[in-house]
Amino acid sequence: MKKVLVTGGAGYIGAHAVVELINAGYEPVVVDDLSKSDRTLLEGVESITSRKVQFFQGDCGDTSFLKGVFEWAGPFAAVMHFAAYKSVGESVEQPLEYYRNNLGSLVSLMKTMKGFGVANLIFSSSCTVYGQPDVVPVNEETPFKRAESPYGATKQMCERILEDAYLTGYRVISLRYFNPVGAHPSAQIGELPIGRPNNLVPFITQTAAGIREKLTVFGNDYDTPDGSCVRDFIHVVDLAQGHVKALEYLHKSRSEKLFEVFNLGTGEGVTVLQLINKFIETTGVNVPYAIGPRRSGDVEKTYGDVSKANNILQWKTKYSIEESLQHAWNWEKKLRDIK
Ligand code: UD1
Repeated sequence: MKKVLVTGGAGYIGAHAVVELINAGYEPVVVDDLSKSDRTLLEGVESITSRKVQFFQGDCGDTSFLKGVFEWAGPFAAVMHFAAYKSVGESVEQPLEYYRNNLGSLVSLMKTMKGFGVANLIFSSSCTVYGQPDVVPVNEETPFKRAESPYGATKQMCERILEDAYLTGYRVISLRYFNPVGAHPSAQIGELPIGRPNNLVPFITQTAAGIREKLTVFGNDYDTPDGSCVRDFIHVVDLAQGHVKALEYLHKSRSEKLFEVFNLGTGEGVTVLQLINKFIETTGVNVPYAIGPRRSGDVEKTYGDVSKANNILQWKTKYSIEESLQHAWNWEKKLRDIK
């Protein structure tokens, strides 16, 4: 069985990837410092898969900790690197923490990989690297605009690090996610926002559950069909399966050095207001909302051209937006014990 090191495997996307890796016959080993997560999702993973997952708590920026993991739990066929800070607002307040954590952990991970002869790396990037695109959908050739936040800048810089370093003997795939939403269909794992959610779907589900009084739609005067922002909302299980496809592609490819980038999204743009209304229609639960001012740093419109991942990785999304919203709601209901 091929072992895969999954950093950030106790987080939202990482935990879903661990499930898909197990389903595909891999043996994931999880590293997470639990600074933005806890053991809840790992317990969910174990319950879905009926498997115990090997877990090491620690920081990827700590090279001696990482070395220990490679020594004890290796050899690894590949690494999936999810561990990173991801809150746009927090990154504006604490830019240096974001640069230290997101860049430092990638560099120390790659150095450790080199020391142990591990070349295969799958990196969590984001559509945020494109900034405010001139034309949608964006494809992988779309040039980067100045990042809207320190968080976005860390993703751009990490991609630059990968692009420079792969020539020294790495095989890298960087996956640019659009907006991950939903939860596992079993409702055993899903998003666990810390405190007040910043992201739209957790805010919708918490409002539907009565934890938040109402949702504010940040702006309805954009140049879009109904004035609210357009995003590409991808089911987190589809996204996780994209990682397994990327891993298979790395294994099939014979080149000693490789650097490829893929957009992972649905290829369809949905407005914020459309999404809220779809949630209400699909679940039959009301979500009180009001229109508020624009949120600073928001991109008006973005969705992905995903034909490269469709063609080269042989990957396609399977879930509809309605299923994503229903699964997100099922997860919220389970968390809050709502029948
Ligand atoms: C952004 C980044 C994404 C990154 C994510 C991390 C872009 C295009 N996307 O996602 O790459 O991974 O941050 O958090 O840079 N909204 C409301 N009310 C709310 C919450 C959100 O109207 O209470 C709206 C936002 O204005 C936005 C949309 O919903 O138009 C989605 O927002 P959010 O879920 O925060 O994700 P992005 O900002 O798109």
